[in-house]
Amino acid sequence: MYNFDKIIDRKNSKSVKWDFTKDVFGTDDVLPMWVADMDFPAPEEVIKAMKERVEHGIFGYTKPTKLTAEIIQNWLARRHNWKIQAKEVTYSPGIVTALGTAILAYTERGDHIVIQPPVYHPFFEMVKKNDRQLLYNNLSLHNGRYEINFDDLENKLADERAKLFILCSPHNPSGRVWSKEELTKIITLCVKHNVIIVSDEIHSDILLFDNHHTPIASIPYEHEVKIITCIAPSKTFNIAGLQASALIIQNDSLRRRFVEVQRSQGLTSLNIFAVTAMEAAYQYGGNWLDELITYLEQNVLFVKSYLEKHFPEIKVIIPEASYLIWLDIRELGINDEEVRKLLLRKGKLALESGSKYGEPGEGFLRINVGCPKSTLEEGMKRLVSAFS
Ligand SMILES: Cc1ncc(COP(=O)(O)O)c(C=O)c1O
Repeated sequence: MYNFDKIIDRKNSKSVKWDFTKDVFGTDDVLPMWVADMDFPAPEEVIKAMKERVEHGIFGYTKPTKLTAEIIQNWLARRHNWKIQAKEVTYSPGIVTALGTAILAYTERGDHIVIQPPVYHPFFEMVKKNDRQLLYNNLSLHNGRYEINFDDLENKLADERAKLFILCSPHNPSGRVWSKEELTKIITLCVKHNVIIVSDEIHSDILLFDNHHTPIASIPYEHEVKIITCIAPSKTFNIAGLQASALIIQNDSLRRRFVEVQRSQGLTSLNIFAVTAMEAAYQYGGNWLDELITYLEQNVLFVKSYLEKHFPEIKVIIPEASYLIWLDIRELGINDEEVRKLLLRKGKLALESGSKYGEPGEGFLRINVGCPKSTLEEGMKRLVSAFS
């Protein structure tokens, strides 16, 4: 029903991905396959709802309503079999903003926060910029799949200043969808050491190859678990520029504390288009998403077979969710700076360098395959020519 092959010119649309490569990479003569947004238009229903809102012509203050929370409730029940109450939902313009709020709400200056590199780089920045210390529970790669080192995780959580664990579930950039067993072990350790979990589940709707996501807060547990779950339609429906996300915080006092810190920053609502788009996407976007997933799976398989054929030294780590592929280029034996130069000068391709995701990311690259097949084909040619 949907034409994901259609090329839409995004140049001069104030797109970070397409129009800011000069600022980020020092050149604009490159094909951008870096930052995580897709080159597909949002579902028609979202565009229609936005158009209707524009036609109304009055853009005064607004707020999410009970209906917004009910739409989120229904989405989580339908897609993830997670039953929440409407009162447990609160909002934030972005997930990164919410991470900052959680850090301020639940930790003190100098406290320790556990993350799992290689991981989404703002996790590092938000902790450091708020004068908290990072503890690294590095993931390990076994047979093309990342795993958690639970002994090391327990050591880090047992640190007496460890107050928060920021989980990325599914994980960016490894593409892992954590199993219920893995998540249950995380809960057990965090409860044992009284560490609050912030679970960033922004990639949880784009599940590839029949993988099943379990919201960590949906797992029944004998003791109370302190979890802040971050969700958003932004990656799922390609509406990141609208800045709409939601938090599910089931513990009343944690939720009150979160909202209190938001208020101290004057964050009391979302913009009118964020609310409109979020409601329309979660209400009507399901079919579009299902087709998107099929398209993305084809793109992932294309990258795998293309590289196996044309450049087998680059190993593809097959993502279980989302549209970001983590490429293992360690076999090429070249350092990050050289990789960057080759990609930009020879390949004319803008990719995220692995070291941005922490030290265990060195020797890797992240490529965004949320684009029409023809763009992806061009990207693969450029990748191969960069290193040939
Ligand atoms: C794991 C993860 N969290 C958060 C974000 C960004 O969220 P937001 O734009 O809502 O701040 C991204 C974007 O790529 C992401 O991958």
